[in-house]
Amino acid sequence: MLNDNDRDEMTRVQAKAPSMDISPAECLLTGPLDPCTVVIFGASGDLTSRKLVPALYNLYRNDGLPKPFIVVGASRSPLSHDEFRGKLRASYEAKDNADLALWDQFASSLYYKPVIYDSLDSYKELAKLLRELEETYKTVGNRVFDLAVPPALYPTIAEMLGAAGLSREKENGNGWSRIVVEKPFGHDLKSARDLDETLHRSFKEHQIFRIDHYLAKETVQNILMFRFANAIFEPIWNRSYIDYVGVIAAEKLGVENRAGYYEHAGVIRDMFQNHIMQVLAMIAMEPPSLFDADLVRDERTKAFRSLKPLDGSKEEDNLILGQYGPGSIDGVEVPGYREEPGVNSQSLIPTFAMMRVFIDNWRWRGVPFYLVSGKRLARKMTRIVVHFKRVPHSMFRHVLDEEILANQLILGIYPEEKISLTFQTKYPGARTCLRPVTMDFYYDQNYRGPKLEAYEKVLLDCIQGDQMLFWRQDGVEVSWTFLTPILQECESCANRKERLHLYEAGSWGPAAAKKWMQLIIEGFW
Ligand code: BG6
Repeated sequence: MLNDNDRDEMTRVQAKAPSMDISPAECLLTGPLDPCTVVIFGASGDLTSRKLVPALYNLYRNDGLPKPFIVVGASRSPLSHDEFRGKLRASYEAKDNADLALWDQFASSLYYKPVIYDSLDSYKELAKLLRELEETYKTVGNRVFDLAVPPALYPTIAEMLGAAGLSREKENGNGWSRIVVEKPFGHDLKSARDLDETLHRSFKEHQIFRIDHYLAKETVQNILMFRFANAIFEPIWNRSYIDYVGVIAAEKLGVENRAGYYEHAGVIRDMFQNHIMQVLAMIAMEPPSLFDADLVRDERTKAFRSLKPLDGSKEEDNLILGQYGPGSIDGVEVPGYREEPGVNSQSLIPTFAMMRVFIDNWRWRGVPFYLVSGKRLARKMTRIVVHFKRVPHSMFRHVLDEEILANQLILGIYPEEKISLTFQTKYPGARTCLRPVTMDFYYDQNYRGPKLEAYEKVLLDCIQGDQMLFWRQDGVEVSWTFLTPILQECESCANRKERLHLYEAGSWGPAAAKKWMQLIIEGFW
């Protein structure tokens, strides 16, 4: 039982710990931002109303947008400014706690311009409208062009922007000019290079922002703080102490209404070429000398360069592919991939992949990285598992029945944003028994303020010109250099059909992957 003196002592000890109660406003946003205009191509589409405009509105609500600031929507639909505002207001109204007065204030700086994507005249008219608005609002010609359109339109829009003089910086009334593109950046090494060449005909690398929404997740960014703002992890972050690493992005969702895209992409292009590779790089990279966009991206790219080419023909050892069949998710029957609308009934596209990769450098030589992603799995779960080596010598071996379990560190990204460290402790009692316990840190612990959603962070970084969380072209190419032979192996091997293991929707993937899955998601089988 604690007495009052003990309690006083504990309070004194706790009081010495630094306070974590920083005001949210101090960290949510950076300093003053340049006035600017965000031009959204594909403005009548889903991405605009579901993600981009709500993200801009949330920034506005948190006083996070530059002043002055304007949004110009551009797409094929023949809408007026008011019709555009009305359409977006209708999506906003449906939200709980909608503050329509605030929305209307925000919406007063939304404008719209119908465009024909391959008509230079359209872009000249757009340029004229921009100049007029910039004159009125004094946004001094700074522009972000966000391409919320199918990737097939990227080359056309980039070229037209260039031809209309909209990509040029600091001339003819232009301030800075930036272009934002979403994955996929090509579908293999060659097409990625072709796309890049087209973008670079109009824009320089510092003007191109290639989004990866995983990098915009707080928990993914935090990997750098965890590793490099603490002195205690880096000394053990290597092959001497780490047995293996797992990166898993499991989803419950199926292909939904995206068959047209997914039938050409499959899980490797959809999840590995971008998100999984970036998470891997954050875990494996060397410490940059400075928290600077190019130095951090240098290190991420170096990690990709050190990947040992994977021999995809060795299925058992390196690459397991799967496709979901019918099954049940949360008690509801769901169709198999081949029965989904728009999917070929004989489709051999993988919806699940597990790769075992190695990073051939001094730090990681011989440590397997198990990378997994799949659709229609039992749970949505995104996490990184760092599994340490067992103790080199057990002094308890004569008194324990079992071997001592290794330490495990889990960096949880979804559903729980948390860091957990598992270690051994003494089980109370006279007999020597061990019990593994877990120390958890939740990101929302000691923090009640607003958070930046991925798109808010992405847009804010573009406005600031900070490319740290975006793909640089060399990284895109090295990543494709690693994955293209694997894709070729998957797509052209003689036994393609046999290599694709069907799994039941709602399970943890194909039985062939079980031995590896168990390493990463212990306790779920
Ligand atoms: C997208 C993929 O990039 O990421 C989708 O195209 C996938 O297929 C999604 O569902 C997963 O993102 P998150 O943030 O839900 O893990």
